[in-house]
Amino acid sequence: MKIKRLILCLLWLLAALAWQPAALAQAAAAAPAASEPARSLPPLTQYSAKGADSCLECHDDETVAYSAGAIFKTKHGHQGDKRSPFGAKGLQCEACHGPGAQHSAKGSKKKLSINSFKADSYLSVEVRNQACLGCHEGGTRTGWHAGAHERNAVACTDCHRIHQPQGDPVMTRTTEAAVCLTCHKNQTAAFQMPSSHPVRQGLMSCSGCHSPHGSTAPAMLVKATLNQTCYSCHAEKRGPVLWEHQPVTEDCALCHAPHGSVRPALLSSSPPLLCQQCHSAAGHPSVARTSKSLPGGSSGGAIFTIAGSCTNCHVQVHGSNHPSGSKLMR
Ligand code: HEC
Ligand code: HEC
Ligand code: HEC
Ligand code: HEC
Ligand code: HEC
Ligand code: HEC
Ligand code: HEC
Ligand code: HEC
Ligand code: HEC
Ligand code: HEC
Repeated sequence: MKIKRLILCLLWLLAALAWQPAALAQAAAAAPAASEPARSLPPLTQYSAKGADSCLECHDDETVAYSAGAIFKTKHGHQGDKRSPFGAKGLQCEACHGPGAQHSAKGSKKKLSINSFKADSYLSVEVRNQACLGCHEGGTRTGWHAGAHERNAVACTDCHRIHQPQGDPVMTRTTEAAVCLTCHKNQTAAFQMPSSHPVRQGLMSCSGCHSPHGSTAPAMLVKATLNQTCYSCHAEKRGPVLWEHQPVTEDCALCHAPHGSVRPALLSSSPPLLCQQCHSAAGHPSVARTSKSLPGGSSGGAIFTIAGSCTNCHVQVHGSNHPSGSKLMR
């Protein structure tokens, strides 16, 4: 085949030579291009020959967001771990940034030649994430494709920092929430309220209740249901108790705002109104009839409305273990 084509080509060339010299030059230039790829530019799929050494010739710098040295202090720079980019036979920098021979050869046109992981990258979020998922598909990322973050094109690198000299803030309990709150502004206010889960204080983080990588549970909670999530820390509320209070076993959020509330104990509204969403006021004179029985009134306020209101008597709102605790009073 090849020989036949070469002969045909030569014959055609000779004919062209006889006709006009300009055609010769053109054909000579075109002939090799047809049979083999151009060599002047390395193709995009080529890894650089010297690996990290070639990258570090130009990228050995240090800024607030980037430090070449920082990566070698992290697990990604661990040379003894063969799963890591810098482990034996690892692709080093290019394990994440993709083949970089073309980029290394020409520092210019950089935006179109390397995976920068930045929002202005020419690569889609899905492609950028794939670079990480290639090594991290398992573990807590098994829920990634079920989560709201994947559906809404959130990138791994919207949360994670790989080259930061002070480490990856999202991996530390005290600094994680700040990363989440850059996008979830509504939640900022909730955690400032007088009664709130101690996230702001650094005692717990959003990921105590949520799986940032996604889960099949509602609101990407860490456990299958809301109550199970709460029980993982408030185990004493799980029971079993002799006298259950139905809404408690059903859904803690019927009475509690999980993030924060202006009322004590994260309550979503105050008793008696909290209780009267479900229990009729009839039978219990829980509505102040005169100003005297209002809180601060001359009679000191009715027991149904002052202080804990209903919970003054029904102290065991979460259920009772007392033989005669059916009315949740002991
Ligand atoms: C010949 C020098 C040179 C070499 C070698 C080189 N780069 Fe670059 N690279 C540059 C320049 C110049 C820029 C643009 C810098 C800027 O915009 O601040 C850049 C930018 C980048 C960016 C950011 C792109 C962006 O859109 O912001 C990444 C990531 C990057 N290089 C990774 C690599 C990796 C990985 C290697 C090794 C495979 C490598 N570079 C090798 C010169 C080089
Ligand atoms: C584990 C994946 C990973 C490895 C390995 C990795 N990088 Fe990066 N690199 C990133 C991510 C993600 C970003 C985006 C910024 C960030 O998250 O810190 C980035 C950003 C950069 C930038 C752009 C910095 C800027 O702010 O403009 C350069 C340059 C760069 N990397 C060079 C390198 C070099 C050189 C190596 C090898 C020594 C390397 N990277 C290894 C993931 C990686
Ligand atoms: C070549 C494989 C590889 C690639 C690609 C890779 N990682 Fe990793 N990563 C690892 C290994 C190995 C560890 C260490 C795991 C361990 O110790 O259990 C790790 C650890 C981590 C950790 C935990 C760090 C810690 O201090 O505990 C995070 C976060 C992480 N990677 C995020 C990313 C992100 C984001 C990307 C894409 C930008 C990425 N990785 C790309 C192999 C990789
Ligand atoms: C919404 C923010 C967020 C996004 C997006 C995110 N992560 Fe994470 N990631 C976290 C937080 C918070 C932790 C630490 C708490 C934990 O372990 O769940 C973490 C921990 C990790 C760890 C180390 C612990 C472990 O589970 O092995 C790895 C590896 C990791 N992430 C990889 C990824 C990859 C890969 C992606 C993209 C597919 C990604 N992350 C996207 C917030 C995020
Ligand atoms: C880059 C922006 C961004 C960051 C950072 C981010 N998120 Fe999100 N998150 C989103 C988007 C977009 C959605 C989907 C729309 C919505 O519900 O607001 C979402 C949805 C959620 C949801 C609702 C899930 C559902 O099914 O309703 C939870 C919970 C959540 N994020 C938790 C977190 C936590 C925890 C962190 C920090 C570890 C975090 N997010 C960081 C953008 C972000
Ligand atoms: C004590 C557990 C807990 C903590 C801590 C927590 N959340 Fe939630 N979050 C929940 C529950 C439960 C829901 C579902 C509320 C519902 O369905 O009534 C939720 C819902 C959400 C939603 C969905 C929208 C909404 O408000 O219903 C987002 C977004 C969210 N949380 C973000 C965050 C962020 C960001 C943090 C950290 C700053 C955080 N959460 C900390 C328990 C928690
Ligand atoms: C990761 C652990 C954790 C999870 C999960 C958790 N909590 Fe909490 N909760 C705490 C901590 C810590 C406090 C603060 C305790 C303190 O200040 O003494 C707290 C406090 C509370 C308080 C207020 C106590 C008071 O007296 O002010 C309520 C109510 C509460 N949690 C309800 C819930 C509900 C409802 C859920 C499920 C949506 C939940 N918690 C999930 C850790 C958790
Ligand atoms: C019927 C409404 C209601 C439901 C449902 C409910 N709680 Fe409460 N919870 C309250 C009230 C009222 C208080 C304040 C008690 C007080 O004033 O002593 C409270 C207080 C708390 C406290 C702080 C004081 C303590 O007892 O430790 C925690 C923690 C708590 N609830 C967790 C939960 C959890 C977890 C669930 C779900 C399993 C839940 N609650 C369901 C009404 C409710
Ligand atoms: C979301 C609805 C709901 C809320 C809010 C609620 N309860 Fe209940 N409560 C119920 C249900 C349902 C029962 C079971 C009724 C039955 O068995 O007839 C119950 C049972 C009771 C009982 C026992 C009644 C009996 O006949 O044995 C008492 C006492 C009680 N609740 C007090 C309270 C108090 C106090 C509050 C406010 C802190 C409250 N409840 C808030 C739904 C609610
Ligand atoms: C002064 C104490 C006291 C206060 C305050 C109080 N209760 Fe009661 N509650 C009782 C007593 C006593 C019973 C009857 C117990 C019995 O019959 O064994 C009862 C019974 C109930 C029952 C069971 C149904 C019934 O009629 O037997 C419910 C539901 C109830 N209370 C809800 C509330 C609600 C809601 C509030 C707040 C508006 C409230 N209680 C405030 C003392 C109180």
